[in-house]
Amino acid sequence: MKRVLSGIQPSGQLHIGNYFGMMSRMIQYQEQNELYCFIVDYHALTTINDRKRLETNTLNAAMDFLALGLDPNKSIFWIQSDVPQVTELTWLLSTITGIGLLERATSYKDKTSRGVSPNVGLFSYPILMAADILCFGGNIVPVGKDQKQHLEMTRDIAQRFNKIYGDVFVIPDAEISKTLQLIPGIDGQKMSKSYGNDIPIFASEKIIRKRIMSITTDSTPIDEPKDKNTPLFQIYSLLLNKDDKKELESRFDNPGLRYGDVKKELADSIIDFFQPYRKKREYLENHKDYVLKVLKEGAQKASIEADKYLTKARTAMGLNYAD
Ligand code: TRP
Repeated sequence: MKRVLSGIQPSGQLHIGNYFGMMSRMIQYQEQNELYCFIVDYHALTTINDRKRLETNTLNAAMDFLALGLDPNKSIFWIQSDVPQVTELTWLLSTITGIGLLERATSYKDKTSRGVSPNVGLFSYPILMAADILCFGGNIVPVGKDQKQHLEMTRDIAQRFNKIYGDVFVIPDAEISKTLQLIPGIDGQKMSKSYGNDIPIFASEKIIRKRIMSITTDSTPIDEPKDKNTPLFQIYSLLLNKDDKKELESRFDNPGLRYGDVKKELADSIIDFFQPYRKKREYLENHKDYVLKVLKEGAQKASIEADKYLTKARTAMGLNYAD
C-alpha cells in the first residue's frame, strides 16, 4: 500500500483551485491508500504574523477539508505544528542543504520580486516542506504544478542525506494533477488568495456569483468563435466530464456564444457542485470540539510515525546519546 501525503497552506478561505488542484485528489486517495494530510501552519507563519488570523485560517482550512469529505477514520489528519518533530528534522536537513539550492527556488524568487521582504523562514521554506514529507515516509505527494520544484528539492535533499548517512529516507514522487496543470483565477493568473483572483468554495452565493461574473473575457464579437485558452473555459472545464467538455468546446468554436450566459451557467454549476458540502461545513462550524478532537487524535498518530524517522535520522547522524 502506498503512503500518500500532502499539506495545504491555511492562507484564508480555501478556493476551488485548492479543491481541484489538491483536496479532491487527496480525498479520493483515502479509499485505497494510507493517507497523511495536514494543514501547514508553520509554513503560514512565514507570511502571517497575527495570532488570530493564523488560528482562524488554520481551523477553517481543517473544517473545509473535513466538510469536503476527508474522513478521519480513513486518514491521518492533523495540524503541522502539533507534530513539532518536523522542525527538528528541518534543522538536521538544513545542515546538508546547499544555499544555492534554496536560491534557485522560483516560489521564493516570485514572492520577493512581488515586494515581500523575506524572513529566514521564507527562505528555508523548502527544507521544512522536505521535512514534512520525509518525517512520515511519504511515497506519493499530490501537489499542484507550482509545487513541483519544491518536490524536486525534497528528492535532492533526501538523496543527499541517504548518500552521506545511509538509507534513512524514502524518496518521494510528486503526483501533479493531470487534468489541468495550473488552475487559473478569474484574471487568468494562477488562482491564489493572495492575488485576490480566487473563487472561494464556501463563500456566500452572492460573493461566488460576483467573482464568476468578473472573470476576464476578451471583446470577440458574439458572431465569432471564442478562444478556449481563457480562464472562463478552463475554470468551467474543471467541472465537466468528457462529453460535456466537448459540448462546451463546440460552443466556443462556433459563433453565437455569449460570455455572460456561460458565466451564469458556470456560477450555477459551481454553487450546485459544492451545495451538498455546505451543511457539513455548517455543522462543523458549530461543533468545533469535535474538529479539535479529530485533529488531536491525528497529531498523536502522526507523531508516532514522525518519531520513527526522526530517531533513525538522529542515530545516522551521530546524535542519539540518551537512548
Ligand atoms: N508548500 C505547499 C503549498 O504551498 C504546502 C506544503 C507544505 C506541502 N508542506 C508540504 C505540500 C508537504 C506537500 C507536502 O502548496
